Amino acid sequence: MKALIIERSGEPSEVVHWRDLPEPTPGPAEVRVRMLLAPVHPSDLHVIRGRFARQRQPELPATPGSEGVGIIDAVGSDVPRTRVGERVVLFDVPGTWREQVISPADRAIPVPVAISDEDAAQALINPMTAWAMTMCEHRLKRGDWLVQSAAGSTVGRLVLQIAKAEGFRTINLVRREAQVAEIQALGGDVVLCTADECWTEQLKAATGDNGIESAIDCVAGRTGAVLARQLATNGCLLVYGALSSHRQTDAAAFEMPVFAPALVYSAAEVRGWFIFSWLAGKGVMEGSQTLRSLLDRMADGTLKPPAAQRYSLDRALEAFAAAESAAHDAKPLLAFTEH
Ligand SMILES: NC(=O)c1ccc[n+]([C@@H]2O[C@H](COP(=O)([O-])OP(=O)(O)OC[C@H]3O[C@@H](n4cnc5c(N)ncnc54)[C@H](OP(=O)(O)O)[C@@H]3O)[C@@H](O)[C@H]2O)c1
Repeated sequence: MKALIIERSGEPSEVVHWRDLPEPTPGPAEVRVRMLLAPVHPSDLHVIRGRFARQRQPELPATPGSEGVGIIDAVGSDVPRTRVGERVVLFDVPGTWREQVISPADRAIPVPVAISDEDAAQALINPMTAWAMTMCEHRLKRGDWLVQSAAGSTVGRLVLQIAKAEGFRTINLVRREAQVAEIQALGGDVVLCTADECWTEQLKAATGDNGIESAIDCVAGRTGAVLARQLATNGCLLVYGALSSHRQTDAAAFEMPVFAPALVYSAAEVRGWFIFSWLAGKGVMEGSQTLRSLLDRMADGTLKPPAAQRYSLDRALEAFAAAESAAHDAKPLLAFTEH
């Protein structure tokens, strides 16, 4: 069985290697999943560089990868044999960049037939992030407004789909002028480009006298600071990424200065948000139930992860480069079988 392995932290192109490992055997309450596809997320590359959340950094050597789709090909003694052959997505089972993954049986969630392998491979992290922040944290209702940065990101595009289905409205920030029309076409009610030097005034005008009630930000730096400063009374900004510090080693680039008087007088909240902390708070039963309902939405077409590009295993380094390239429009997926 082939597995991608890191033995030390560092640049993905230097430290990720293929290894041949013995075929794993599932324990009594486990299943073995023959992987079909697993995405390369920016966060996977953070793990490889040793820069991800401490509690999520694996002990080395380890296999990276945070989600994926595959077929159950063996089950433990306590798991019904009828599950062999089931196509499943893995619910928070780290280490998916390998041909065979051992998973607790209750974390291998069946995938409806209507969903493609490419979509199923991306069903957990970004759809769940978009759904949890908008519907569970901000509790947005029909007619409410949400401000989001990096609207062209995978999460941003999923938020736009949820907005369309649930009826909330969006003010979207992108960093490239060329993306404005694209995000408008996807249903963004207001789209502002942060390359425009007037964007902070435009944002103020778009949110009206009260300021921003609900926002999500994965850019941080100056963008996040502006959103925090424009929060309404009792407004809330969830910070879920720091793309402006991406690949930086300069500690100053990780800062997101908060203008204290605005925060004090608005009594607003700027809060970090992390899917794995949120999932841990929910537990396997509730979290996997949410994943099943997202899969149902994907099956009925209301939720569609962005286009994906398959990379065979010998092209893994190209997949890593694609995951970080500017202006990519397809999620790179590692493909474990020939298509
Ligand atoms: N906290 C959590 O639990 C959680 C969960 C999921 C994702 N995330 C984070 O969310 C972020 C987006 O993830 P994703 O998979 O959706 O990303 P993605 O699909 O790879 O998209 C990245 C997007 O961010 C934009 N971008 C990159 N650097 C930027 C910068 N310095 N300033 C402004 N925009 C920038 C890119 O714009 P261009 O098109 O112009 O290149 C692109 O639209 C990542 O930071 C990821 O780690 C966090």
